[in-house]
Amino acid sequence: MAQLIGHKFKIAVFISGRGSNLKNLLNFSKKNKTNWKISLVISNKKSAKGIKYAQQFKIPHKIFENKIKIFEKKALIALKKKKINILCLAGFMRILSKTFIKKLKIKILNIHPSLLPKYKGMNTHKRVIQKKEKFTGCTVHYVTPKLDSGKIIIQKKVRVYKKDNPKTLSKKVLLLEHQAYPEALQKICS
Ligand code: GAR
Repeated sequence: MAQLIGHKFKIAVFISGRGSNLKNLLNFSKKNKTNWKISLVISNKKSAKGIKYAQQFKIPHKIFENKIKIFEKKALIALKKKKINILCLAGFMRILSKTFIKKLKIKILNIHPSLLPKYKGMNTHKRVIQKKEKFTGCTVHYVTPKLDSGKIIIQKKVRVYKKDNPKTLSKKVLLLEHQAYPEALQKICS
């Protein structure tokens, strides 16, 4: 991506829940020299715990608890108004429409808790264990209209042991996610 001279890439983050990836990105950009900054947080749920991190870090945030079409319409206006350069999905549990992706015309990234293209969709850790996989991990990838299928930016891998269960795997993978997402942003914004 071309370098922004004298400016930082403006990032928006979409969340639906806990927001640990959002918190981690906020901390990372505070503690490190980044040429990106989080300028907007949007949640599709009022109950999303992650909203508190936007509040703590004094980042503009919006909640659009609407059906996806209206959500997208409102989000598009907010993103354009803030002149957002990159959209990061972080535990955003809705599927964005083809029209939204086309209209937005900026890079959209997602983090997924599996080694894509394996285990797209939900309940990844449970399925990894059922299939007796030796490794699992996380993937940061570009978002395309096809679910969990865009070009991969970064993957991180961890061993699955016999004693692992979905809870232990989810903890291990989350630690990797917290390394992978900032790395991916550093990579695409360099
Ligand atoms: C993360 O594990 C992320 O990979 C996953 O939701 C969790 C959100 O955690 N995303 C998906 O499953 C998307 N398909 P967080 O709210 O603490 O960042």
